[in-house]
Amino acid sequence: MKKDFLAVSDYTSQEIQELLDLAIALKKEYFASGNPPLFKGKVLAMIFQKPSLRTRVSFDMAMRHMGGDALYLSPAEIGLGKRESIADIARVMSGYVHAMMARVFDHAHVLELAKWSSIPVVNGLSDYNHPCQAMADAQTIQEEFGKAKGLNVAYVGDGNNVAVSLMHVSAKLGWNFTIASPEGYDIKPQAVEIARQIAAGTGSKLTFIRDPHEAVKGANVIYTDTWTSMGQEEETARREKVFPPYQVNAGLVGEADKNVIVMHCLPAHRNQELTDEVADGPHSRIFPQAHNRLHAQKAILARLFGVA
Ligand code: CP
Ligand code: NVA
Repeated sequence: MKKDFLAVSDYTSQEIQELLDLAIALKKEYFASGNPPLFKGKVLAMIFQKPSLRTRVSFDMAMRHMGGDALYLSPAEIGLGKRESIADIARVMSGYVHAMMARVFDHAHVLELAKWSSIPVVNGLSDYNHPCQAMADAQTIQEEFGKAKGLNVAYVGDGNNVAVSLMHVSAKLGWNFTIASPEGYDIKPQAVEIARQIAAGTGSKLTFIRDPHEAVKGANVIYTDTWTSMGQEEETARREKVFPPYQVNAGLVGEADKNVIVMHCLPAHRNQELTDEVADGPHSRIFPQAHNRLHAQKAILARLFGVA
């Protein structure tokens, strides 16, 4: 296991599967008897440049459930790269805490933090990717369908940070990944190139199209996310004109496999990218998916701390 958890693509398929197996085991143990205090004496600093519900609370609770502690540093407090250089922050924090989780605007900033830290750094979302989310997503998919390869994962909407990590984890696990996104909102070519390299080794099929109806044909998983990510707020009006054909609604879900599950990393903008009917309907797994953040991250932290 590497020092840091920055991107799903940094890990082998086997390492990812081991993390998923550990997450599922820790989840079972948590509900049966509680987890042992494997993180006793350890503190995770959580640096946030953007708001968060799931990432903040699930990392905090992951540390507490396993006997450790977490320290929240808000956007106003730390001034990453503004009040102080990232290299200096990394070296100072390395003497205070045992790991750092950072949610940043610019992906280069979390890479810089990792470069200069002697402790593990976890990427809690950047403008490029969201690897912790993808681990919880993969856990949710495997809990539903088992470890079968060849599942069809269809992402409908913006080719954003969440789409990148979902594409990479799908390729790593041998699932077929199709994305339907409007012109101008495609996944970044560098991320696609990485996915193609992974897919060449695992047999995963990658498809990039515009038509959401074509994307969901035969889909086992339909995934969507907000049309406007954090940091893009000034583009909201323009995006609200472009994305309505990409709404995940009952009609679209009806075109997929009959046992399809619908996923969303949340927060959802209900009745924009995802209708209430679907979000609260029988195909939806959005809440178990959110809850799996806790278990997936316990596994990531346990591996980074070298305690499991
Ligand atoms: N899915 C996710 O990362 O949610 P938060 O932004 O609330 O952490
Ligand atoms: N794509 C979204 C995900 C939020 C968890 C964003 O970056 O705002």
